[in-house]
Amino acid sequence: MKEAYIVSAVRTPGCKNNKGAFKDTLPQDLLAFILQAAVDKVPSLDRQDIEDVMVGCAFPEAEQGLNIGRIAAKMAGFPDVVPGATVNRFCSSGLEAIALSALRIMAGWADVAIGAGVESMTYVPMGGNVPRPHPEYAKKHADLYASMGITAENVARRYDVSRQQQDEFAALSQQKAAAAQKEGRFTEVVPTPAARFVPQADGTYRRETFLQAFDDGVRAGTTAEVLSGLRPVFAAAGSVTAGNSSQTTDGAAATVLMSEAKIKALGIQPIAKVKLYTATGCKADEMGVGPRYAIPKLLGKAGLTVDDIGLWEINEAFASQALYCIRELGLEKYMDRINVNGGAIALGHPLGCTGAKLCATLLANMQAKGVQYGVESMCIGGGMGAAALFELCN
Ligand SMILES: CC(C)(COP(=O)(O)OP(=O)(O)OC[C@H]1O[C@@H](n2cnc3c(N)ncnc32)[C@H](O)[C@@H]1OP(=O)(O)O)[C@@H](O)C(=O)NCCC(=O)NCCS
Repeated sequence: MKEAYIVSAVRTPGCKNNKGAFKDTLPQDLLAFILQAAVDKVPSLDRQDIEDVMVGCAFPEAEQGLNIGRIAAKMAGFPDVVPGATVNRFCSSGLEAIALSALRIMAGWADVAIGAGVESMTYVPMGGNVPRPHPEYAKKHADLYASMGITAENVARRYDVSRQQQDEFAALSQQKAAAAQKEGRFTEVVPTPAARFVPQADGTYRRETFLQAFDDGVRAGTTAEVLSGLRPVFAAAGSVTAGNSSQTTDGAAATVLMSEAKIKALGIQPIAKVKLYTATGCKADEMGVGPRYAIPKLLGKAGLTVDDIGLWEINEAFASQALYCIRELGLEKYMDRINVNGGAIALGHPLGCTGAKLCATLLANMQAKGVQYGVESMCIGGGMGAAALFELCN
């Protein structure tokens, strides 16, 4: 197997759906912009040489449909010869897209490929515009279609993750994100053009564009005490609230991957190698446990242990499931290596974008701290977990 190198990894800010900065910005525009931005970081790359654009999207319909991977590649100004595809494994879609592009390079099938992700949860709500569960199968196996919030309640109840623990974890996520913003640590974020409609004196609206440079869901000053006052949103007697759940978010992210031959030919210093990616299944009605199974599978294949991993991005779909996975993986002793700039509770979880978003964040932090190995992992609706291992290039 050859090596697959990431030479560029960037993301738009994550902005709250329906009320955040990207609520009037089409997902095609977010994606086209970030594809351009990822390639702009590699000025010596001829766009003709991009052999594929794989784009993760969890609900690839309506504005995100019609193969947004190809459409956004064209909107980004890539030449006709550059193809594009849309990839779906719900919350790991963006990482799946990176893995598929990495595999092409590792197999010698391509020298340059892009792995990306996009989700506008404003334009296409979670579940899609017109959900159509299989009528008979859904009656017998409703768990496969369960609300993600209910799966988070199941994890909390079955595995004894208390409300207080969830709120403390959520407050810490917010505090870490606020500190990272203040200290300018989100170096992977590219200020992104956003649209807004401004009311005019004659009653019409004018479309304006502005640059959005930061994740707009962060609530500095959040404490566990404040969060303890929020009501559960998914079950009356439950413990999962708006404050200890991931935010629903709009965003896009992209990485450029290359073979060793190509980086040598272009004289590029790569950021990291994609070493391994794996996905695994678990019970659908407690899908949040996914990383607890995906991570040991990943590390087993790599011949590493949790002690070898210097930084983790473990997606905070919900505090309950993130805490359960951290506990079962024996990672409580490494809390200072996990989601160091905060996680999805503060920064948002734009479903199909998240895999590519967390990759960009992880790589930026690995570079900043000089960490050799980093792992990214997430749970996935339907009952799955995914994980990927990255190695920093010196
Ligand atoms: C939980 C959920 C339904 C909440 O949605 P929402 O009502 O739009 O959430 P908001 O972030 O707007 O918060 C609602 C209210 O809770 C309170 N709140 C939320 N976070 C808070 C915090 N950190 N501190 C204080 N109050 C907070 C506020 O009162 C807020 O209202 P405001 O924004 O007007 O002040 C939604 O975030 C969700 O579905 N998350 C999970 C997404 C998911 O399942 N993803 C897939 C996982 S696999």
